[in-house]
Amino acid sequence: MDFSNSLLHWYLQNKRDLPWRNTTNPYPIWLSEIMLQQTRVAQGMPYFHAFMEAFPTVFDLAKADEEQVLKLWQGLGYYSRARNMHKTAQIIAFELGGNFPNNYSDLLKLKGVGEYTAAAIASFAFNEVVPVVDGNVFRVLSRYFNVETDIASATAKKEFSTLAKELIPKNNPALFNQAIMEFGALQCVPKNPNCEICIFNSSCAALQKKKVNELPVKLKK
Ligand code: ADE
Repeated sequence: MDFSNSLLHWYLQNKRDLPWRNTTNPYPIWLSEIMLQQTRVAQGMPYFHAFMEAFPTVFDLAKADEEQVLKLWQGLGYYSRARNMHKTAQIIAFELGGNFPNNYSDLLKLKGVGEYTAAAIASFAFNEVVPVVDGNVFRVLSRYFNVETDIASATAKKEFSTLAKELIPKNNPALFNQAIMEFGALQCVPKNPNCEICIFNSSCAALQKKKVNELPVKLKK
């Protein structure tokens, strides 16, 4: 089986049941991706539930007082994330008639939504074939394909995006993008991954070259 099929197969057997994965509604997907930018899943989970309870739709968030939004964010840090979300919710609710932008390039225009978040929403909610490239994806691909590009370099994003895009099954980009991130989070972890039990232990280039702990390359800036 090739990389993508094996990965999807692994994902279906090993994935965590996370609430924002059981939906194609862009609003909770957006909320979860913003929350998880600088926050671990276990820490973010109670905040995600509290937010969805207080503001079940983008309209509810738009109508809220900033004070109330910031209060619910308390403890997560990086408060500009919450302020940007609140402002963006108002634009979606009041200027875009409640229509959540439904493609990568329109999502990218939203305040606080960068390339990663736009790709996550576009693929998870709308099944657009766009690669998500986060730290997990850098790690999995650099190891499997032995890519030695410095991930802090200017060209790395483009190079890894191109590679990831070639691997995305056109009929299910959402599943593939979730799968590669989950694989990086659970199996292909930064330090001392357990390669003995890895599904790719006969095809991973880094393992064959005994370079797993040297990849991805990240040079100090
Ligand atoms: N971290 C960032 N996005 C995530 C997602 N969609 N699922 C799990 N962990 C994540």
